[in-house]
Amino acid sequence: MKKLILLLFLVLLVTGCSKDGNTLVIVTEAGFAPYEYYENNKIVGIDIDIAEEIAKRLDKELVVKDVAFDSIINELNSGKADIALAGMSITAERQEEVDFSIEYAVSKQVIVALKDTNIKKVSDLNNKTISVQLGSVADSYVTENFKNAKLIQQKKFLSAAEDIKGKKADCLIMDELPATELVKNNPELKILNIELFTDKYAAVVAKGNTKLLEQINEVLQDLIDSGKINEFTINHTK
Ligand code: ARG
Repeated sequence: MKKLILLLFLVLLVTGCSKDGNTLVIVTEAGFAPYEYYENNKIVGIDIDIAEEIAKRLDKELVVKDVAFDSIINELNSGKADIALAGMSITAERQEEVDFSIEYAVSKQVIVALKDTNIKKVSDLNNKTISVQLGSVADSYVTENFKNAKLIQQKKFLSAAEDIKGKKADCLIMDELPATELVKNNPELKILNIELFTDKYAAVVAKGNTKLLEQINEVLQDLIDSGKINEFTINHTK
């Protein structure tokens, strides 16, 4: 009996550390302005505004966790976080591991390089050194399509930008809006006018977490219909 009580206590302790009934734990990688970034030591952004609305609707206290982008899915599936809001693109591969909400943004992947780059077309990417965020759709895209390119997988987009500035990489592939923010702060860089592919962002939950997913979808649909997502986007790109 004593052992059983101890076990129960341990289980409660372990589960209680990360989550309790009154908190909603959102996981993200907060180096992705305007979706998630630090301002005065606080994580803010379009995704955080969305997270706040979801927490409000569920009457829960919001906790935002900043982790490496490539560990987000594990955070969900191990129950350490409830929802990922990380400008995460819907892909068939990810759909095997997690469930996606309705989409709340459309994006496209772009190439960022030094202003005097000699990259003029997609095929120029072969034989180049390309920096990406580890685990991102750009990471898989380069791996699958440019077998002769050299790939640098960074945890942070800022490190990828440093790779270009320090000429360790010829370019970086990432999402358009965050690329625009990055280029704003790094005038030696530019976004190339070359089409790669488009993608769509959604919130993510552990596979089978249908109830939470339905609640998220309701909030997202309201935010889309009322123009709030647009408003959040404008606020964070000023
Ligand atoms: N949209 C891209 C993807 O899903 C990149 C997302 C990066 N997000 C982040 N918070 N770092 O792979």
